[in-house]
Amino acid sequence: MKPTRRDFLQTTAALAATGLLPQRAVAAIAGSGMTAFPAREATLRLAPPGYPATAVWEYDSRTTGPALRVAQGARVQRRLVNELPQATSVHWHGLRSDNAMDGVAGLTQDAVATGDTFDYDFIAPDAGTYWFHAHNRSVEQMARGLYGALIVEEPDAPDVDRDEVLILDDWLLDPETAQIDTDFSASHARSHAGRIGNVVTTNGNPGLELDVAKGERLRLRLINAANARIFVLALSGVEGWAMAYDGMPLAEPEKVAGPIVLGPGQRVDLFVDVTADAGEKAYLIRSEDKQGYAQVALNVTGAAAGTVAGALRPAPPPLPPNPRMAVPGVEAAKRFKLVVEGGAMGKLDSAVLDGERKTFQQLADANQFWAFNGVVGMTDAPLARLSRGETARLEIFNGTSFPHAFHLHGMHFREIQQGGALGPLRDTLLSFGGQAHEIAFVADNPGKWLFHCHMLSHAEAGMITWLDVA
Ligand code: C2O
Ligand code: CU
Repeated sequence: MKPTRRDFLQTTAALAATGLLPQRAVAAIAGSGMTAFPAREATLRLAPPGYPATAVWEYDSRTTGPALRVAQGARVQRRLVNELPQATSVHWHGLRSDNAMDGVAGLTQDAVATGDTFDYDFIAPDAGTYWFHAHNRSVEQMARGLYGALIVEEPDAPDVDRDEVLILDDWLLDPETAQIDTDFSASHARSHAGRIGNVVTTNGNPGLELDVAKGERLRLRLINAANARIFVLALSGVEGWAMAYDGMPLAEPEKVAGPIVLGPGQRVDLFVDVTADAGEKAYLIRSEDKQGYAQVALNVTGAAAGTVAGALRPAPPPLPPNPRMAVPGVEAAKRFKLVVEGGAMGKLDSAVLDGERKTFQQLADANQFWAFNGVVGMTDAPLARLSRGETARLEIFNGTSFPHAFHLHGMHFREIQQGGALGPLRDTLLSFGGQAHEIAFVADNPGKWLFHCHMLSHAEAGMITWLDVA
């Protein structure tokens, strides 16, 4: 990217506008218990110096990291105020909460028009790392930055020296203007690996650096908010444990030994101890095409108070379990299947779109590429009807040439591993081309729950269905 005079002029204008921020409207709305939660236009510095700031969409400056923090069991009351030029809604990803508050435009609520409001009012039942994001025209609205972290705090704070939310994202910018590429329905992204950005950020910052002290124990809450990018991460100068996936505590902390892989929508809570010496740098490294990049740089200062130089701390105890984490009765569970087909280099010959069978070419002409059990996109018929409280198991076969991140709303599941053991409780399953999986969950949350690929271009191009829990 080469700055031009025109770019420079735009920079001046954009910076002047930035000076008006932050205008945080967090005043309680008289008498209602609601706090204003505006969705509005803003700017972020995403491109290198010399380029203009990028126009983005945000919720109350949350894109850059400051999380919405609530106590476990607390009532969350937020009045979405839509100051955007487009209708929107807010989905609380991973929250096992009320269906009416799930924020899925077209399924659980109508999209909120420009200038209108919607009151989200629910209890946060589980401690952990959750997030929220737009759920109307998600490909566009999330690519523009409409997301943030929702941290639900344990009643007793775990023993860490610092708690950092790290929202990972990539942005697809026009290399001339440094503005968001507005081709949100590009058929290449839809039929291949999704919309992959050219600027990678943490908390909206392409080169995030944090100051830490040697010996400190950090809780790092990693959230993959990207449209489609899979983050492959490693640690350098810090050592530690995975404590929770997708918000839900592991029964035993897992020592981080290999790469940490996060599909879109997934989260991991790490507890890491700073082992690098003062004056050195530690890193969260992103690997890409066999190269390592600094996703986050940690500047190590002198030893933390109370730590013995060079002494490693004992492993942390597990985080306290959330309620309803067991998935009983897997053997006798109701079974159903999901065959996933389509995309470039796939084997899909034809599928049903809007009630009519279409050839792959006809689907491609309609910018649709993927099928769940031979059906493209949402229909009136759910993938399954379940009765409240029953355990269900879903076999998933990824018969495509691409990875996908299957996300179930409203309930967490466990993957049934080889030999029958149950994996960690999660809300998003990362699946690679050709893989078969089986997941099990308790259908204990009534309502209409979406199940879709969190690679958002894939969801728009057919990979979306729903479950009905009566
Ligand atoms: Cu995080 Cu349906 O989405
Ligand atoms: Cu996908």
